[in-house]
Amino acid sequence: MDKSLELENLNKKWLEECQCELKKTATQAVPGVGNPDADIIFIGEAPGRSEDKLGIPFVGAAGKFLDEMLELINLKRSEIYITNIVKYRPPNNRDPLPEEKSSCREWLLGELKIISPKLIIFLGRHAMNNFFPDLQISGAHGKLLIKKFKGISTSYFFPLYHPAAALYDGSMREILKEDFKKIPKVLKEIAKRKV
Ligand code: URA
Repeated sequence: MDKSLELENLNKKWLEECQCELKKTATQAVPGVGNPDADIIFIGEAPGRSEDKLGIPFVGAAGKFLDEMLELINLKRSEIYITNIVKYRPPNNRDPLPEEKSSCREWLLGELKIISPKLIIFLGRHAMNNFFPDLQISGAHGKLLIKKFKGISTSYFFPLYHPAAALYDGSMREILKEDFKKIPKVLKEIAKRKV
């Protein structure tokens, strides 16, 4: 089946079946968007106010900064796929609770399974800790992680600081940009390993 159609079916299913408590307070669900044939998936934390309003991930201030960084490495949004671990906005943008993350987990795993990217990029500690609960973002950012997970075809993960955390922190902003610039090299490294 065509991947876009598979994603459409996945979203239809989870829009009905997701038991996330955040459904009660959010305006709408914010499923992932982008290229179903993408080599890279970016995973953020949860929708914010602008995303909740428009139903599209990373369209607010953090999204604008993400666009700037994509431009640094000549990547277009149309070439990648972006999603969040939690598909509904937490009230006042508080951190998602463990039970909210687990309610949306199968939805996220479904997206990863269909797209089957070469590399999964975590935007922030929440996304990273969803897969690597023992790692600290301060030590793990900008380093390629290799691990096999059941049901996920890629074994390559690259954690970054969250663009929202770096928005108003000059030094973190620079670190994030430098880490971002490593992405093309990371993709080459992955291609070499597969040969
Ligand atoms: N922050 C996130 O983690 N996700 C979004 O979609 C927007 C901001």
